[in-house]
Amino acid sequence: MFATQIKTNQTLDNIPNDIFEAIAHLKQELNAVILAHYYQEPDIQDIADYIGDSLGLSKQAAETDADVIVFAGVHFMAETAKILNPNKLVLLPDLDAGCSLADSCPPAEFAKFKAVHPDAIVISYINCTAAIKTMSDIICTSSNSVKIVKQIPADQPIILAPDRNLGRYVMEQTGRDLILWEGSCIVHETFSEKKMVQLKIEHPEAEIIAHPECETSVLRHANYIGSTTALLKYCQENQNQTFIAATEPGIIHQMQKNAPSKNFIPTPVMNNCACNECPHMRLNTLEKLYLAMKNQTPEITIPEETRVAALKPIQKMLELSFN
Ligand code: 13P
Ligand code: SF4
Repeated sequence: MFATQIKTNQTLDNIPNDIFEAIAHLKQELNAVILAHYYQEPDIQDIADYIGDSLGLSKQAAETDADVIVFAGVHFMAETAKILNPNKLVLLPDLDAGCSLADSCPPAEFAKFKAVHPDAIVISYINCTAAIKTMSDIICTSSNSVKIVKQIPADQPIILAPDRNLGRYVMEQTGRDLILWEGSCIVHETFSEKKMVQLKIEHPEAEIIAHPECETSVLRHANYIGSTTALLKYCQENQNQTFIAATEPGIIHQMQKNAPSKNFIPTPVMNNCACNECPHMRLNTLEKLYLAMKNQTPEITIPEETRVAALKPIQKMLELSFN
C-alpha cells in the first residue's frame, strides 16, 4: 500500500497520534503563529491563534512578531502575508489552495482592460494575485470596499476588480458608477435563490445573511450582507435565533461556537453537491498543516520587485481602513 501522497512529496506517514500536541510543540519551537480563515475545517479553526476574514488576517500578518506564519487559507492570503513580511517564513499547508476569483483575472488580460480606461484608478479586491496587486492603486476586502470607495473623490473613475458581484454591491451601497471586471467566485455563485426562498418559507422566523460575493438574485433577499467577520458578529449580536447563511459553510463552526443555542442553516446550492464548500480552502488539512510546520515547506516566495510593487496598494488599504 502506498501512503497518501500530498503536495511537495510529503506523505501522511508518521503523523503523530496527538497531532494537536505536536502542532502546539512545533509552534513554540518555531516561534510560529497560525492564522486561519473561517472557511477552514473545524480542527484547523480550533488550533489557530487567530481566525478572521481577509482584512483581519492581513492586519494580523502585518502586526505579528512571530518568525513563522502558518497560513491556513488560500494562496492569495498567504501571499499577502509574505508581501507584508519579506523576512518571515510563510507556510501554506497546500500550495494548490488557490482561488477561482483570483484565477478569473489573468494579468495580461487585465493590463489590456486597464489600458482601455487610462483615467481610472484601480481598486482590487484582495482575492487576486500579486501580479494584479502590482497593477492596482488600492486593495480592498469585503469588509472595507464600501468605506474605501466612499473616500475616493466623486469625479474620479474607478475600476473595481475582479469580483463583479462585490462590484455591483459596492455600486449599490455608494451610488457610484464603477467599471467592473467580470470575475466571480465559483462557490458564491452556486447558491440557489429558489432553494433559499423555499427554506425561508419553511423557516419564516429565520434571517438571511449573505456574503457580497453572492449574486444579486441572492443578495436581494438578505436581511444582512457583510464579510465573514461581519456576518459572524451580526449573528452573535442579533436577537434572532435562526439564520440562513449564504456563504461557505465552514463559518458555521464559529457561528455555532459563539452562539450555541442558535440555529444556522447553510443555503443550498443548485445541484445536490457539496460545492458550497470552497474546494481550494478545503485542500488544507490538519495533517498537511502539521507536516508544513515540521518540514518548513511549502513556503510562499515572491520576487522582490513584485513584492515591493504589490505592497503599496496593500499599505494604502490598511491606511484607509483603520483611519
Ligand atoms: P472575507 O473577506 O469575508 O474573508 O472573504 C474572503 C473570501 O474569500 C470569501 O470567499
Ligand atoms: Fe476564492 Fe471563492 Fe474560495 Fe473565497 S470561497 S477563496 S473567493 S474560491
